[in-house]
Amino acid sequence: MSAAELRVIVGVGGGIAAYKVAGLVRLFTESGADVTVVPTPAALRFVGAATWEALSGHPVATEVWDQVPSVQHVRLGQTADLVVVAPATADLLARAATGQADDLLTTTLLATRAPVVMAPAMHTEMWQHPATVANVATLRDRGVVVLDPADGRLTGADSGPGRLPDVADIHAAALSVLRQVHDLTGHRVLISAGGTREAIDPVRFLGNRSSGRQGYALARAAAARGASVVLVAANVDQPDPPGVEVVPVESAAELRRQMLTRQPQADAVVMCAAVADFRPTAVSDVKLKKGGASEPETIQLERTPDILAELVARRPDGQVIVGFAAETGDAAGGVLDHARAKLAAKGCDLLVVNDVSGGGVFGRPDNEVVILAPATDPIPVPRADKAVVADAVWDAVLGRR
Ligand code: CTP
Repeated sequence: MSAAELRVIVGVGGGIAAYKVAGLVRLFTESGADVTVVPTPAALRFVGAATWEALSGHPVATEVWDQVPSVQHVRLGQTADLVVVAPATADLLARAATGQADDLLTTTLLATRAPVVMAPAMHTEMWQHPATVANVATLRDRGVVVLDPADGRLTGADSGPGRLPDVADIHAAALSVLRQVHDLTGHRVLISAGGTREAIDPVRFLGNRSSGRQGYALARAAAARGASVVLVAANVDQPDPPGVEVVPVESAAELRRQMLTRQPQADAVVMCAAVADFRPTAVSDVKLKKGGASEPETIQLERTPDILAELVARRPDGQVIVGFAAETGDAAGGVLDHARAKLAAKGCDLLVVNDVSGGGVFGRPDNEVVILAPATDPIPVPRADKAVVADAVWDAVLGRR
């Protein structure tokens, strides 16, 4: 089923994290899904109906007494392809576990036969209380996918497990539940993400605009499909995706070291990071000052090693190596001509090509790419959320294995 035909119910519980769920609704609607938001009455004390109606494009109901002639309390559940509950509060988990049906969301949970994903958020004590632990176990036994909450800052001064997982993680988990594919189980994948920084002095660096979002989406998608994932992350300001080993690095040299050390244990390697092509030949260990003896007239640059080419040269048998390329067309050829030449020059199995002629891809939630492999037709991936692009890349990797 394509995202465009997908009918999603987003149930919102009465917790402060309700405001974050606006971003989740956006992720679903932007991928073309038809979303109906069903907040509990308590949820509406945090975020009002107008917000949910504007984001989803549908009226919002809370009680079974709303829109009675359309028998909404069973119709919503019956027609849904997927129900996602976020934040799933301790109270909502308890009501769902005991089969209560005292508002529109809990009746929908009873009426639906679609997959249900619940993303809990509450204080650590409540999450770890035996009552909640038992309720979660009951729901999981019934086939409900209850995600683990993230660890971190909670409301007030507290921190610990209980934060709502990142909405991108909830979205990725929901899509994977829907596909029910774990086709990367047993695969070990190594991904680089972000953009390297090459020091000039202790405070300055040469960097680039890569946000790391596509690399993180690749890691999330691979983990959701069952892979064991190592993510070498250069300067990325994003929470660690659940179940992924994140190795933070800063410079091209550190990224190179981590990738080459970890390459032998991987079945697939994806070089999504924007690696600096040049770095200063010398790094000043004191801050360069205006007017002083240290004021530089020029900064000498040298080439950084081509990590992708090195990975290809050392590739163990059967390993699939994927490169990324941001290209523009010019007098010498179009984007695909340059990309084909790069694929041949780098010797990788797949090249994921961004046409950046029309403006930036950096930091956007969506992307549009063409996946190239030697001696086959290009695979176009139309503009979509980076999670969707990530899945297309893994499909292509599986095709090569
Ligand atoms: N790459 C790399 N090491 C470098 C530079 C790039 O491993 N020093 C990788 C990137 O991670 C990406 C691929 O090479 O997967 C293509 O990056 P790109 O910058 O487009 O290629 P370059 O070889 O630097 O070519 P260009 O001269 O077009 O910038």
